Amino acid sequence: MEQTITEILFEKAKEARTYAYTPYSHYQVGAALLCADGRIYTGCNIENAGHTPASCAERTAFFKAVSEGVRDFVAIAVVAGPEGGELVWTAPCGVCRQVMMEFCDYEEFQIYLGTGASDCRCFRLRELLPHGFGPKNLDF
Ligand code: THU
Repeated sequence: MEQTITEILFEKAKEARTYAYTPYSHYQVGAALLCADGRIYTGCNIENAGHTPASCAERTAFFKAVSEGVRDFVAIAVVAGPEGGELVWTAPCGVCRQVMMEFCDYEEFQIYLGTGASDCRCFRLRELLPHGFGPKNLDF
């Protein structure tokens, strides 16, 4: 049977998570970002001895896409959990939500959180970032 797009996104997010570079938190995150043209960009979290230069999995995926000229996004799936442990439900940090606010439709963009396609919940950006501030606020 053919895989659903949600199954594909979770599969790719899990694969991306295997590349997480997490010598400090040992918390590994993977993301798969679906673009309007069907392309999927993946990302993992990448930490740093200087701490501040770290990137979350979601932002890695967004910046990979944007740096290749892609700015039209439909959905993202995120999986996370401690190194060597079970996946646990994890929601994007505030900074990643703000990056979504920059590039995604507030009402339509779908954020799938969970441990897999059969154990997930879909949120809209508005739900995760109420009263958000984005490019439209500067459109005067
Ligand atoms: N992290 C993500 O990559 N995405 C999230 O949604 C939450 C947190 C990362 C940042 C850091 O590398 C590690 O998880 C622990 O905070």
